[in-house]
Amino acid sequence: MQTIIAGVTIYDGSGAAGYCADVTIMGDRIASINPASAALPDGAIDGRGLALAPGFIDAHTHDDLVAITAPAMLPKITQGVTTVVVGNCGISAGARRGTGATLPDPMILLGDAQDFRYDSFAAYAEAVDAAGPATNVVALVGHTAMRARHLDRLDRDATEAERLAMRADLAEALASGAFGFSTGLAYANAASASTQEVAAIAEALRNTGALYATHLRSESAAILEAIDEAVAIARDAAAPLVVSHLKCAGAPQHGRSGEILARLDAAAQVQPVGCDCYPYTASSSTLDLKQVVPETPIMVTWSDPEPEQAGRMLGDIADDWGVAPVEAARRLQPAGAVYHCMDERDVDRILAHRLTMIGSDGLPCDPRPHPRLWGSFPRVLGYYVRTRGLLTLPVAIRKMTGLAADRLGLVDRGYVRPGLAADLVLFDPERIADRASYDDPQQPADGVLGVWVNGVAALAGGAVTGARGGRMLRRPGTKNFQLEGPIVS
Ligand code: ZN
Ligand code: CU
Repeated sequence: MQTIIAGVTIYDGSGAAGYCADVTIMGDRIASINPASAALPDGAIDGRGLALAPGFIDAHTHDDLVAITAPAMLPKITQGVTTVVVGNCGISAGARRGTGATLPDPMILLGDAQDFRYDSFAAYAEAVDAAGPATNVVALVGHTAMRARHLDRLDRDATEAERLAMRADLAEALASGAFGFSTGLAYANAASASTQEVAAIAEALRNTGALYATHLRSESAAILEAIDEAVAIARDAAAPLVVSHLKCAGAPQHGRSGEILARLDAAAQVQPVGCDCYPYTASSSTLDLKQVVPETPIMVTWSDPEPEQAGRMLGDIADDWGVAPVEAARRLQPAGAVYHCMDERDVDRILAHRLTMIGSDGLPCDPRPHPRLWGSFPRVLGYYVRTRGLLTLPVAIRKMTGLAADRLGLVDRGYVRPGLAADLVLFDPERIADRASYDDPQQPADGVLGVWVNGVAALAGGAVTGARGGRMLRRPGTKNFQLEGPIVS
């Protein structure tokens, strides 16, 4: 079975300018790329005036369980995403949860307690393959998930024996194809973990090439110290570092992106360092009392005890109840929130930085999700490339494809090259745009016309087909990792 996309402008994922060609897909691979023929070949897809890019890699997601429970992956396929990186922020499904009836925060972002039923990474990976999601899955192993498995309580540092048990879990997962280790040290259930605890677990990364991804211990006043901690942990384990959803959160941090990026740049001179970012000025997670401050407008997206408050501003709820916002937030627990906490100049500077990949951080189980779940990639290509001119099209595409593939060590995708996996997205560069908004967040994008995952057409003629070609991707065998020198980006 062969598909030809003819006369299309290829942006190959390297950051190089587009060029016009005919691309042939055979089976699950890109078979050939030939000079564009004068006439449209028989049966070919007419790509004239359109862009063809490597399928987008969503470098930061929480799709661990929806890849199994909702394998159509509509928020992703409709954006042109063909691979999701799961297991971020210290939470992952590939580790058995603790014995408690409730999930430790923020594991609820991934799904309900009964959906965490995998005793090992290998069991989780098999379940993904059995479900056959529409996108490929790359998985990290979450620190908080392992703490929930091995510690009786999460408000303390792990003992030596517990650290070794978590390291052994991580080593086993890496041997089963995990791409790295993640932490979410800002969350209460990991905040009591010392640097030494994290470093002891991260030791399993040594000589594997697998990466360390971290939701920093602080994204506010102490962010530089948190970056230094992350850099040191990665360096000690000789592992590439990815700082997750880099941002300047909260009014006192506005304008600090320059010094923060300078800190990362300095580290990147001596070791592999990168970060991901979503293209919005609001963040989202569970409702965190520490982030309830007067300068940050907060929208409640869900609340278990007060479901009818979803979609309302926390300040309005507090006024109605005649209590302080922090008290209202306490009564709403457990709950989710969108925090309007960033300055757009910081988002611009971080997005445009050479080390930055695009990661949606979309929350797939939120009934009123932050629009980043459905809109991140088209928003970069529409708003940030076409409308604002912050990035060129080839550079923006690189941040979604080749850069992420290089960082992860994905050797067979991320570029449009003969022989690589046929993960491709066809879109109209004049039309592509996000339609998801804070008020109406579950809207598919405009301008995405075709999506292939391992050669299977998940979206054709602008419509989802229902065909699912995704796979669990397993990290290729241990490679000799060189600490010297930065990753070329
Ligand atoms: Zn996070
Ligand atoms: Cu996250």
